[in-house]
Amino acid sequence: MALVIGVAKETAAGEKRVASVPEVVEKLIKLGFSVAVESGAGDAANFSDDVYRAAGAEVVSGAAALWAKSDIVFKLRAPSVQEIGLMREGTTLVSFVWPAQNPELMQQLAAKKATVLAIDALPRQLSRAQKMDALTSMAGVSGYRAVIEAANAFGRFFNGQITAAGKIPPAKVFIAGAGVAGLAAIGTAANLGAIVRANDTRAEVADQVVSLGGEFVKVDYEEEGSGGGGYAKVMSEGFQNAQREMYAKQAKDADIIITTALIPGKPAPKLITAEMVKTMKPGSVIVDMAAEQGGNCELTEPGQAVVRHGVTIVGYTDLASRLAKQSSTLYSNNLLRLTEELCKTKDGVIDVNMDDEAIRGLTVIKDGGITWPPPAPKPSAAPPAAAKPAAAAKPAEKSKGHGHGGGGAPASATSTAITFAVAAVVFWFIGASAPAAFLAHFTVFVLACFVGYMVVWNVTPALHTPLMSVTNAISSIIAIGALVQVAPPLLGGAAGGDRPEAWIVGLAVLAIALTSINMFGGFAVTRRMLEMFRK
Ligand code: NAI
Repeated sequence: MALVIGVAKETAAGEKRVASVPEVVEKLIKLGFSVAVESGAGDAANFSDDVYRAAGAEVVSGAAALWAKSDIVFKLRAPSVQEIGLMREGTTLVSFVWPAQNPELMQQLAAKKATVLAIDALPRQLSRAQKMDALTSMAGVSGYRAVIEAANAFGRFFNGQITAAGKIPPAKVFIAGAGVAGLAAIGTAANLGAIVRANDTRAEVADQVVSLGGEFVKVDYEEEGSGGGGYAKVMSEGFQNAQREMYAKQAKDADIIITTALIPGKPAPKLITAEMVKTMKPGSVIVDMAAEQGGNCELTEPGQAVVRHGVTIVGYTDLASRLAKQSSTLYSNNLLRLTEELCKTKDGVIDVNMDDEAIRGLTVIKDGGITWPPPAPKPSAAPPAAAKPAAAAKPAEKSKGHGHGGGGAPASATSTAITFAVAAVVFWFIGASAPAAFLAHFTVFVLACFVGYMVVWNVTPALHTPLMSVTNAISSIIAIGALVQVAPPLLGGAAGGDRPEAWIVGLAVLAIALTSINMFGGFAVTRRMLEMFRK
């Protein structure tokens, strides 16, 4: 029998978002579910009860009736004690939960024999999980809103202008932390015409900052900031001192600072000191997106905008909720994709498949049993193995940078020389012993590898996905083989009259049809992706 998905009205003070918008409700119904929406759930995000009704949902009055009716409940914020009280035994809950920070809540949910899918526990590094990644979609909205809040509190334009009334310089925006939220803020501020600079402890984001129109400002200290899984780690004392020096300079120069720096499971690093705030120009603005985790600025007051030393410091913790319609739509789409994964049979019944890595990761309670934390990812994955040598190479570089290593450069020069020598011997051996026909193909192969490597290496990382799809299209070399088979019969026979059999021609035509999908599809996808980069 089809299960009932209930969309509860958020109870947290000031929360305007809703876990499912009418457009998505329609799609959930197409998956075979019945949908019940608590009356008024979408009001603050501009989705009225009537629109939900028109989408096919049943609108239910009051939280008690909704929770009693629902087999699966969709929510944004983790449920309150009262809400857990209303929950039926064996309900499935999908919401933010933050299991590490909320052990009591986990116990209460387990006592209800619930199955809990914590959207914040999704293994984000799986590419398949990206469509369900609500942390990313909410961070993107928050980053955008942070810039809008800054613009609201700032007394000038963002873009430079030359008018009859005088010359206006562009605003200077400094972004601390270029994760998902930071990158969204960089793009938004750059689009408004500001000069944008950004810093992050993870060196790999430098290209992304540049591709969004910002300038990456490096800390003058060699230390890699990646702590695994795309997240940052706590940096050494030496790095922090060098970083503070750089931030002090930026604070004097910037009109607006937006901070987003976070380290999983740790309080937010304090990057902007009270001293730095004092040196900022009067009328400057700081938006501290890390306010909820203690703040990146010493003077931030979570949830409030305050003026200190003439600088407005915005510490709002509800940035995504301030764009309720947008964030609700994105969140609902994330949950829809999750529901599709849970209900592949499209019959309104879910299967929480613990063998699926993505589903396993976000299932923090299964039928009342706490299943969090999930086991470590399988060791067979290739990328972590490849990452190790890179990480090991860093300390050598670091010590080189500080003058007491010395051995790093010669060691790497020797290993390069050895690699080249071995390659030369292998090539000589192949050249001396292989037949001529093989050599011709082999030369083309080696050159193709070289050209391919250079192409990928010289394309900015932000364009790698469109590049992949275009190479995918070009790589449909199958078409040539198939054309060779089809050509003689279609063009009236080859010189020798050596016609292939009909079934071979049939297969070749089929191969051309299939590979055409790959080719034209690849080009079409590339075009659509490149469109995204055009203004
Ligand atoms: P986050 O919210 O945990 O941290 C925000 C940013 O602050 C990070 O970029 C971090 O490096 C930076 N930071 C931490 N300490 C800092 C310090 N002391 N100074 C300056 N910056 C500091 O991170 P978020 O936004 O949730 O994502 C982190 C990364 O994970 C991003 O690069 C994102 O693209 C990646 N990611 C990858 C996914 C995937 O592989 N599918 C999915 C989602 C995110």
